[in-house]
Amino acid sequence: MGDPDNQTSIPQHIAIIMDGNGRWAKERSLPRAAGHKAGVKALRKLVEHCISSKLPTLTAFAFSSENWRRPEREVTLLMELFMTALDEQVKDLHKHEVQLRFIGERETFPGQLRSTMDAAEILTAGNRGLTLNIAANYGGRWDITRACRQLAEQVKTAAIMLSDIDEDLFGRSLCLSNQPEPDLFIRTGGESRISNYLLWQLAYTELYFTEVLWPDFDAEEYDRAVNWYAERQRRFGRTSEQVESA
Ligand code: IPE
Ligand code: IPE
Ligand code: MG
Repeated sequence: MGDPDNQTSIPQHIAIIMDGNGRWAKERSLPRAAGHKAGVKALRKLVEHCISSKLPTLTAFAFSSENWRRPEREVTLLMELFMTALDEQVKDLHKHEVQLRFIGERETFPGQLRSTMDAAEILTAGNRGLTLNIAANYGGRWDITRACRQLAEQVKTAAIMLSDIDEDLFGRSLCLSNQPEPDLFIRTGGESRISNYLLWQLAYTELYFTEVLWPDFDAEEYDRAVNWYAERQRRFGRTSEQVESA
């Protein structure tokens, strides 16, 4: 959990819900697919901006565990886009020292996509630039349930004791375990909800919601969010007087 004595006004980890692709397309009388394509481009551009502004960690929600409920055609299209984006961009990301990681249940993805994801992680594992986590078939409840199951299994095999389970160990059993919790959460597209994103990890994150639709979210909008963050006072339960005198 964050420590108010240890904060800077610059976020070290930003978690984004890239929402509004469908509405962006609708506004232009285009098929939803066009919105998703524009969304991929927007992410690519934003990653460049994050690299040049030296952000350590970016976590982007690409596909939620609930998005399987969409029409089959849209799900297939999203998988294809994901695959193409990886094929086209991994080399370049690698060149820019980006460390790519995927969080979420990947067993349900097509085999070829899974192999591409694995290969991208292996290729970029040693990179020390931006850590880019892509949440794909991710759900916060899935993440928490999976951690519970893992810990229960370890208790069963006596690898740990029941009394070993505390917030720290639990947090380390989740996805993103070895990464700092997000400082700033950004959701585009005008909805003020978390939609089963990083439920545990967002406990003390500053939440920023914007009407801007994801394909229109550019470097300027990103800087706006980061500047908004710089004005927050993170208290982590303390009073402002305590924080100010620290
Ligand atoms: C976000 O855009 C992309 C994914 C969920 C994959 P949407 O497709 O949800 O766009 P809207 O909310 O319909 O506008
Ligand atoms: C959240 O967006 C998931 C992603 C952006 C990948 P949704 O558009 O699926 O969220 P809800 O269903 O409107 O809450
Ligand atoms: Mg949406």
